[in-house]
Amino acid sequence: MIKKGTKIASPKGKVGVLIPGMGAVATTFIAGVEAMRTQGAKPFGSLTQMGTIRLGKRTDKRVPMIKDFVPLADVNDLVFGGWDIHGENCYETTLRSGVLERTLLDSLKPQLQGLKPWSAVFEKKYVKRLNSKTVKKGKTKYDQALQVIEDIQNFKKKNSLDRLTMIWCGSTEIFLKPGKVHSSLEEFEKGLKKNDPGISPSMIYAYAALHLGIPYANGAPNLSADFPAMVELAQKNKAPICGKDFKTGQTLMKTIIAPGLKSRMIGLKGWFSTNILGNRDGEVLDEPQSFKTKEESKLSVLDHILQPDVYPELYKDFHHQVRINYYPPSGDNKEGWDNIDIFGWLGYPMQIKVNFLCRDSILAAPLCLDLVLFLDLAKRAGMSGIQEWLSFYFKSPQCAPELYPEHDLFIQLMKLKNTLRYLRGEDLITHLGLEYYD
Ligand SMILES: NC(=O)c1ccc[n+]([C@@H]2O[C@H](COP(=O)([O-])OP(=O)(O)OC[C@H]3O[C@@H](n4cnc5c(N)ncnc54)[C@H](O)[C@@H]3O)[C@@H](O)[C@H]2O)c1
Repeated sequence: MIKKGTKIASPKGKVGVLIPGMGAVATTFIAGVEAMRTQGAKPFGSLTQMGTIRLGKRTDKRVPMIKDFVPLADVNDLVFGGWDIHGENCYETTLRSGVLERTLLDSLKPQLQGLKPWSAVFEKKYVKRLNSKTVKKGKTKYDQALQVIEDIQNFKKKNSLDRLTMIWCGSTEIFLKPGKVHSSLEEFEKGLKKNDPGISPSMIYAYAALHLGIPYANGAPNLSADFPAMVELAQKNKAPICGKDFKTGQTLMKTIIAPGLKSRMIGLKGWFSTNILGNRDGEVLDEPQSFKTKEESKLSVLDHILQPDVYPELYKDFHHQVRINYYPPSGDNKEGWDNIDIFGWLGYPMQIKVNFLCRDSILAAPLCLDLVLFLDLAKRAGMSGIQEWLSFYFKSPQCAPELYPEHDLFIQLMKLKNTLRYLRGEDLITHLGLEYYD
């Protein structure tokens, strides 16, 4: 276990941000960082940039910004690179994605145009709705992993990078269950060499990163680094890994509302969630096998938060349904509807309706920035393997096999901030507060 107040290596130097999948989320993240650097744009939604952390007693009045408290890399030191199949540069992708305004994009054109993804590891069978233009060849999946490793090494050399992190912002792959090939590093490497169908492209990128000791995060719900072989590789090469599927729109709301209902012992009969989404992600998720991956990730949160086993009278057998409807006119502006059937005192029924008119990539971009910076911090602090303190960012947090994941957003935030306090040798905050009344 890492020691309290451990020494953290300096954040100085350039950090390469490796992104497999340079679509709407990735390019909104990149354009946003460029706008921060050159136009003083505000990173709303980013805890690392805008959040504070209380230290010591409430009467101490020590509340620094998180970025001043822990040694994070400077956003000016981030250098972007990545892979995609579409053959566009980032300026073209941002225009097509329709998330950001044209005037902003035109002001960032030189930086965005200069970023063209490298050819990708891709197989249509894992994301059926997409057609590819720029794809790596290679007889085996192992050959492809070596090519990704080579891309990373070239990128590092060309840009004189000190460190790297990788964040999958690619499409949601089909639903895969962990099997023998995922059970150990040895089995996984054998599988790479004999093209095992259980190994998807996202796993090949994750393998390449972890092989080089580079931290890895997965923004999508597909199986990628959340199985024993990758945990073993991450530990072996001292690379931090964390959960999957960014917690942004509807699930973010769920993990805000559900802990509140439970804390007041309000029962739940049913929770119906539907989404209208018109971007490429929506198109991919319209395909049943990709939707199945997303559905599993979205459904699991309520059970873990509400604990029906502990509170059967309140939460046993509640009906939970999630739908995603591909509706092109909505573009990236996703609309989420929730109908929540609850009951209170003496069983009297009530309802909550939530209509969240959100912007998918606007919600996801700051999460990319925070994850890149926190994973880089973890690596410099000597933390490797599963980083449960980053659960805050994911619909499917990764945790030790004997644990259940923590989904409650407020517990996740407390865990994250206490981890930062611990790293800096500060007292953890329990919120007991009895000392103020002695
Ligand atoms: N935006 C959100 O709020 C949010 C929340 C949770 C999860 N996600 C997930 O994040 C991912 C990205 O979302 P998006 O809106 O940017 O989607 P997008 O379709 O705009 O971008 C995904 C990109 O990945 C590329 N891609 C697919 N397979 C690839 C491969 N093997 N190698 C390299 N590139 C590949 C596609 O060509 C595409 O450009 C999706 O999986 C989505 O489900 C998004």
